[in-house]
Amino acid sequence: MIEDETARKTVGRILAWYGAMGADAALADQPIDWMARGDVPPGAGFSVPGAEPALASSPASAPIPASGSAPPKRAPLAPTGVQQRAPSPPATARPARQFPPRAPGAAEPMGDLASVRSLAELRARIEAFDGCGLKATAKNLCMFRGAEQADLMIVGEAPGREEDLEGKPFVGRAGQLLDKMLAAIGMGEANVHITNIVYWRPPGNRTPTPQEALACRPFLERQVALVRPKVVLALGGAAAKGLFDLADGIMRVRGKWRDIEMGGHRAKAMATLHPAYLLRTPAAKGMAWRDLLAVKAALKD
Ligand code: URA
Repeated sequence: MIEDETARKTVGRILAWYGAMGADAALADQPIDWMARGDVPPGAGFSVPGAEPALASSPASAPIPASGSAPPKRAPLAPTGVQQRAPSPPATARPARQFPPRAPGAAEPMGDLASVRSLAELRARIEAFDGCGLKATAKNLCMFRGAEQADLMIVGEAPGREEDLEGKPFVGRAGQLLDKMLAAIGMGEANVHITNIVYWRPPGNRTPTPQEALACRPFLERQVALVRPKVVLALGGAAAKGLFDLADGIMRVRGKWRDIEMGGHRAKAMATLHPAYLLRTPAAKGMAWRDLLAVKAALKD
């Protein structure tokens, strides 16, 4: 009885830890051994629900336990009440994980984006792309909301829960504040294009990793080229890092103009504080307001 209670508490703590780390979504009914994908690079045919064929063809594949297979036996309790470790299985050498280099001149997994002529076409390319792991856990693609061509392009961090459900960026509480901020400088969906550095919601609303941002980057570059903004405004530290490749925190980089070139299009760019941060820290709104006034002035130039 005591043992059951202890096990229940331990499982509860492990689940709470997974939740805190952002692992709050089940990908399949059975556990998946992600290490068993071996040398298969992300997005190259490894998909979650029907993962077996890719796993079977992988040289380093390990069998997935069949559903209903017997759970592993628990080690007997030591006399002191301390659980003994089960003897480890003999170590099997795993070949070093290597993603084969792309052959010179070989097509990128997302195809030739320079030939993409419209946002609708770009959306179709993003929908067909499996190279960003966030797609596996997200409900919907969140590409943009607002004008298709706009002098002001806003780039946030990543979709959250409401955005994931609706399939549009910045529709939750932070988005409502963003809309108020834009309205205060006489702008809105009719003349602003709003997007993020990644197109899918990270599980548990964690910050997207640099790899996830990098995977989406070629699409974002083409998006900038199609929207043709005069000014790109990054919201928050993650967006500023993803867009401008900076190591400094948002308080250091915000409010400073820089010239950027994305997808062959040149624009003025600035970072400011994220509206979600402003909701938690209303005292910082003054800084964001100064940045917005600078944006308004730059749009008039
Ligand atoms: N926060 C973001 O950075 N982007 C969204 O789309 C919503 C909240």
